[in-house]
Formats: sequence, C-alpha cells, structure tokens
Amino acid sequence: MHIGVLGTGTVGRTLAQALVDRGHEVRMGARAAGNAKAVAWSDAAGPLASEGSFEDAAAFGELAFNATAGAASLEALEMAGAEQLAGKVLIDVANPLDSSEGTAPTLTVCNDDSLGETIQRAFPEVRVVKALNTVTAAVMVAPELVPGDHTIFVCGNDEGAKTQARGLLEGFGWPPDSILDLGDITAARGMEMYLALWLRLWGATGTAVLNVAVRTAP
Ligand SMILES: NC(=O)c1ccc[n+]([C@@H]2O[C@H](COP(=O)([O-])OP(=O)(O)OC[C@H]3O[C@@H](n4cnc5c(N)ncnc54)[C@H](OP(=O)(O)O)[C@@H]3O)[C@@H](O)[C@H]2O)c1
Repeated sequence: MHIGVLGTGTVGRTLAQALVDRGHEVRMGARAAGNAKAVAWSDAAGPLASEGSFEDAAAFGELAFNATAGAASLEALEMAGAEQLAGKVLIDVANPLDSSEGTAPTLTVCNDDSLGETIQRAFPEVRVVKALNTVTAAVMVAPELVPGDHTIFVCGNDEGAKTQARGLLEGFGWPPDSILDLGDITAARGMEMYLALWLRLWGATGTAVLNVAVRTAP
C-alpha cells in the first residue's frame, strides 16, 4: 500500500520503518517538507521511503497514520487537508497529553470527549480508527517484546476501516485474538484516559515495554 505517516517523532519513525520493512511505500509528513528527522529517516530507509509536508503525506497515502503530538493533532490534520484525507482510513495513535504543567501530564480532552472523536467530528469524511495509543512505540510494531498474550484495542465508526487497521496490526505481529474492538469512536475516551494508568505502570515497573492483557471468564 501507499501509506502516509503524519509525524516525525519516535512513533512516526517507528511506524514508518515497520511499514517499509513490510513492503509498503511510506511518505513521512511534517509541518514542512525537508524536516531533518524525516529526511534522515527517508534517506536511511531506502527506495520505499519518502518525506514531505503533512499535506504531501496525506495525499500520497491510501491510508494514513496520525502520529503527531496529540495537543497539536487537529492543527496538523488541518495542514494535511480534509480533501487529501477524505474517504481514507486514518489510524490515530496520538494521545492528547499536556505536559506543560509539570511532570504528571494531563489530557487536553477527556471524560465526555476524546481526541479520536474530535478528529472524527472535524473530518467527517475521514474513517478514523483509534489504535495503538496504549503501548509504547516499540511495542506497537513488535508486540512480541512483551512476553505472553496481551491486548491491543481498536475503535471507530467504520467497520471496513477497522478491518483494514486490523490487517496492518496483524502485519506488525499482533495475533488476531489479541486485537479487541471496543466499538465506535467514543471508546477513544477510555483508550486515551488509560494513559493516566499507563504512565503509572511505567513508573511502577520501571519499563515502558509493558502492556495489559484482558482476560474473561470462560
Ligand atoms: N512515544 C510513544 O511511545 C507513544 C506511544 C503511544 C502514543 N504516542 C502518541 O503518538 C504521538 C506521537 O508521539 P511522538 O513521541 O512520536 O512525537 P511527538 O513529539 O508527540 O509529535 C511529533 C510530531 O508532532 C508534530 N507537531 C508538534 N507540534 C505541532 C504543531 N503545533 N502543529 C502541527 N504539528 C505539530 C511535529 O511536527 P514536525 O514534524 O513538523 O516537527 C511532529 O511531526 C503523540 O500523540 C503521542 O502521545 C506516543
């Protein structure tokens, strides 16, 4: 597939590399083409990799990932352009973290709303799937880093979009029965508010390479 990865941070580069490694053509987007991190990644990643603006990456992708800073994701997606994203699946991995008030981040949106919903409302023609935001970047594309069975969540309003997202997650190594569909995009509230717990799990265990497993009674 042609995939646009919006974001040049650890997550954007990790996803972009994993997608190239699986044979996809990937364009990484930043606020401006020629972003130093995007150029360095693209130069190292070979002929399937390219870089450009958010708009270039969105236009290039048949599907796109939102791997931008959550507090700025709407701004980034506006730069990408509604017309470039219309009808496409957007896998939103962002967390709306606000770290401006000190060491314990808060969420810029929560409780009765979420970033995933905000994006879906702002871009009604985009097929938003929230996924992968509950694990650290390395685990997103290599779930085997965490031993045993563990769970990754997806949600969104469009069943076909979730099926496509599932396919990519399975390509990253997530076993089909580890991918738990939580329903429509309002489930992004819980997936994003989980960050408060995830941050404390990181602190308590001393590693970000962690995940939770959902188990039910037989
Ligand atoms: N780090 C993890 O392991 C992890 C795990 C799960 C979820 N997440 C989430 O994934 C997302 C990406 O995280 P990250 O650590 O890779 O990178 P990040 O530093 O949170 O975000 C970097 C990206 O955000 C863009 N950006 C920053 N401010 C902007 C603004 N004012 N307007 C438009 N775009 C702006 C940057 O654009 P430029 O390229 O132009 O600089 C860059 O592409 C975040 O939402 C994060 O919460 C991270």
